[in-house]
Amino acid sequence: MRILVTGGAGFLGSHLVDALVARGDEVVVLDDLSRGDKEHINPNATFIQGDVRSFADWEKACDGFNPDVIHHLAAINGTRRFHKEADLVVDVNVNGTRMSLRAAKKFNSTLIFYSSPEAYGEQESMPLNNESTSVFTPAHLHQRHSYGASKHIGELLCQFESRKGLDIRIVRPCNVYGPRLRGDDNGQVVSMMMESNPIEVHGDGLQTRSLTWIHDVIEGLLKVNDKANLSGKAFNLGSNEEISMLDLATKIAKLRGVGVTHGDTNHGDSRRRLPDVSMNKEIEWSARTTLDEGLSQLL
Ligand SMILES: NC(=O)c1ccc[n+]([C@@H]2O[C@H](COP(=O)([O-])OP(=O)(O)OC[C@H]3O[C@@H](n4cnc5c(N)ncnc54)[C@H](O)[C@@H]3O)[C@@H](O)[C@H]2O)c1
Repeated sequence: MRILVTGGAGFLGSHLVDALVARGDEVVVLDDLSRGDKEHINPNATFIQGDVRSFADWEKACDGFNPDVIHHLAAINGTRRFHKEADLVVDVNVNGTRMSLRAAKKFNSTLIFYSSPEAYGEQESMPLNNESTSVFTPAHLHQRHSYGASKHIGELLCQFESRKGLDIRIVRPCNVYGPRLRGDDNGQVVSMMMESNPIEVHGDGLQTRSLTWIHDVIEGLLKVNDKANLSGKAFNLGSNEEISMLDLATKIAKLRGVGVTHGDTNHGDSRRRLPDVSMNKEIEWSARTTLDEGLSQLL
């Protein structure tokens, strides 16, 4: 298959590209390297440096290549950026997705859109399924939901085009962790806990998440890529093994021999985010790696 991966220099994208190349797919990566790392792009993939907001850059990547499938991952990710850089988050995430739809139409490609459980905002009723309502707090309080709202709009645009006949699948990876995940200030929870000393827990740390091992998620993504007749369907690619952030910090602190402190609460941090994973029966996938197995592999 010919596959275009936007954001293919990033955490999830670079692992996906490795898996596609390994099974013999022809892969083009479109990434502006604003956050991804060129070193992580598989040498057997073709790399086009460009911005997903620019349709001319999409044409550079697609002209003559005509991808069968586009995996649209390029986005502004990283919890702290959602409030601090809300304008950029909305611009890249919404306009990049609009351009991905335009490219899928022009090049007659299947589109796989990378949404997020954050698209549900602060919905408290768990587990989060395809019928759950998105709940966003008033915008004057904080702008954390720039990200979740941008993913919600992305899903909305995808459903709109799917209804008109484009083959579009939606995936919501759930707190994925593994090698190459950045542990800097804008990083994600596991990598930050792996690198900081002492480990800082936000607020009381009783908020829970389900963490999913990267290679499990990649397996799910390949199934969404390969199966026929999935247009308009959305998959929560996650584990439903829940852990509080305090327990996670304590576990990692013990493995690393460091301490734990409590810091400020993040704006709009939901108390619980448990995915409903029953829709994954359709792709015959479930997360198999336990947190203990994943963390020890990571270490
Ligand atoms: N990692 C997770 O747990 C998780 C969970 C839910 C959803 N997602 C979604 O999956 C996708 C990938 O996430 P990730 O964790 O790999 O993030 P990441 O930040 O590691 O990767 C994003 C990539 O997009 C690129 N990019 C950013 N802006 C761009 C632009 N304007 N033009 C071209 N490239 C641009 C970056 O350089 C980077 O390589 C994102 O859409 C994210 O919202 C990830």
